Formats: sequence, structure tokens, C-alpha cells
Amino acid sequence: MRVFVAGASGAIGSRLVPRLIERGHDVIGTSRSPDHAERVRALGAKAITLDLLDAPAVRTAVLAAEPDAIVHQATALANLEDFKHFDRSFAATNRLRTEGTDALLAAAGEAGVRRFVAQSYASARYARVGGPVKTEDDPLDPTPVPAMRQTEAAMAYLDRVVTDAGGIALRYGGFYGAPNDGLLEPVRKRQFPIVGDGDGVSSFIHLDDAAAATVLALEHDTAGIYNIVDDEPAPVREWLPVLARLLGAKPPRHFPRWLARLFAGDALVMMQTESRGGSNAKAKRELGWTLRYPSWRQGFVAAYTSTTATDAPQSKRAMRSQSPT
Ligand SMILES: NC(=O)c1ccc[n+]([C@@H]2O[C@H](COP(=O)([O-])OP(=O)(O)OC[C@H]3O[C@@H](n4cnc5c(N)ncnc54)[C@H](OP(=O)(O)O)[C@@H]3O)[C@@H](O)[C@H]2O)c1
Repeated sequence: MRVFVAGASGAIGSRLVPRLIERGHDVIGTSRSPDHAERVRALGAKAITLDLLDAPAVRTAVLAAEPDAIVHQATALANLEDFKHFDRSFAATNRLRTEGTDALLAAAGEAGVRRFVAQSYASARYARVGGPVKTEDDPLDPTPVPAMRQTEAAMAYLDRVVTDAGGIALRYGGFYGAPNDGLLEPVRKRQFPIVGDGDGVSSFIHLDDAAAATVLALEHDTAGIYNIVDDEPAPVREWLPVLARLLGAKPPRHFPRWLARLFAGDALVMMQTESRGGSNAKAKRELGWTLRYPSWRQGFVAAYTSTTATDAPQSKRAMRSQSPT
């Protein structure tokens, strides 16, 4: 197939492009700058620069590329720091998930593109009632934390319009597996505390496993939503001390809810105390997906044991968290 990858230079896009090429697909990959286009070219794709928020440009690019399939992996999450003003921090990504998705879907319709796969997110979205692990059929949170309302609405919008158009929305877990993952530096510096009892459940996914699932989704015929998460959703109080130990950091601090709310806002408190994780049973069953890193326990070891502090991006802000992206 000819596959048009929007966001080919990003964390997931750059893992996806080589896999698609390995599978025999032709790839046209987008980024926003000539610099990043060079990276995309080095991965083996035809590179184009494109702003997904420029709908006429999206139309022109897609019609010219004549793809069989489109993958939407564009986000604007690099250097994310302010989780207190959650929706403000996610505003650009929310536009990519709404306006960007609309532009790609419209162009896909006009160009007769047969397959469409888009990036969504699993953790911290399901209703905060009942068991800790949710399937795709379980309801989303009907009353999101006010600070995250727009972000939750943008993800729900993407899920809906993509599947209505016959495509697939992949609700990924929290990405890890790159030496500069945003989580590392705050954990090393003890700026990422356990809040309250740390009962909030996170679902993680190694970037390589996420890319493998994305290829399978592209080759799959039926529309739908899939949680692309590992086998072991886990409460923060479990995974965070393990990650700190692996990184050679001191154990995480413990913050009461009121103090965390003051410093980092309601969104982070919710994620750390009430979030539910995702079940990957449907993706395994229907896509035939198998994981190289079935649990973050092996994945963190593989990804981070040789990672040094200098690999991490610089950040001054305390209490950054795994983000619903
Ligand atoms: N599920 C998750 O946990 C999740 C999901 C996404 C990202 N993240 C994390 O967030 C951090 C940053 O992610 P990232 O490296 O993928 O970078 P990013 O800044 O989020 O960019 C991702 C891709 O989207 C493209 N893009 C951004 N704005 C665009 C626009 N207006 N129009 C078209 N394309 C646009 C970027 O192009 P350029 O390269 O040209 O900027 C890049 O190809 C990483 O640590 C990553 O792991 C986590």
C-alpha cells in the first residue's frame, strides 16, 4: 500500500515508518520543517512538509500523494510542562485531533483512501467507577475533571469521527522506550511524587509495540477502537518506585492530595488517584497483536537501564506527569 503518515517525525511516527517499509509499503511521511523532513527521508520515506491545521494544504498533499491509507500520528506534546492548566497545554494537540482529523478525513474521502488509522489515548479517560481495567466498550468518564474537559472532548471527537468514517482509533497507553521520554527527568529529580494512596491506574506501551500494533491496524479491514496498552495496567504506587529504582533515583516522595492539587492541579491528582487502565484483549484477539514487552516491568528495564541523566530533556518545572495524549 501507499501509506501517508501524518506526523512521521514524532515519537511513534519515526518507529512506524521503518516498520511499514519493512512490510513492503511505500510511505509518504509528513513533518513541519525541512530539518525534520530530512529525518523522515533518512527513515526511508518520501518526505513532505505539511501543517495539518491548513486544510487546503492537507487536501493538496493527500490528493497529490494518492495514498491507499492514512495514519494520523500528529500531536504537539514535546516539552509539555504545565499540567495545572491542562487544556491550555493540550490546546494545539486538541486542534490536531479535531481540525487536523477533519482535514485528513475530508481529503481521504475525496481521494478515495480506503484505510484510516488515528492516534487516540487510553489511560485516564474511562469512567472512574468500578474495576481498575476497562475495555473499549466501557463508558468514558461522563464528568471529566474541569481542567481536562476540552482535551477529553477532543479525544472523544477523534474516536467518533474516525470510526464513523470507517477508520480505526488506537487508544495507546503512555508511550515509553525513547531515551528522552518526558517522564524520566522528573522521576530522577524526585519531582514526580505519589499522590494520596497512588491508586490511579496507568496503562503503558513500549513505542515498538505501539508501532507494531499500528501496522496491524492499517492492514485490518474493520472499523473500530482498540486499546493499545500492555498486559499489566498498574497503580502509580507500584510502577513509580520501580522506575525510580531503575533510573538510580531516590524513592518517590509522597504528597497528600491537597498539596498536589495546589502545585499541579486537579488533572494530575485525578490521574494519580482515580484513573483506570485499559484492557488489550480486543487488539490481541482481532488484530493478532503480540507484544515484545507484555509488561512495563520488562519494558522499563530494556528501555532505561543504560539511559544516563544526560539523555533527558531539560525541564525546570516540578511534578510533571504521564499525560493523556
Ligand atoms: N500516548 C502517549 O503517551 C504519547 C502520545 C504522543 C506523544 N507522547 C510523548 O510526547 C513527547 C513528544 O512527542 P513527539 O516526539 O511525537 O512530538 P510532537 O511534538 O508531539 O510531534 C509529533 C508529530 O506531529 C507533528 N506535528 C506537530 N504539530 C503539527 C502540525 N500542526 N501539523 C502537522 N504535523 C504536526 C510533528 O512534526 P515536527 O516533527 O515537524 O514537529 C511530529 O511529526 C514524546 O515524549 C512522546 O513519547 C506520548
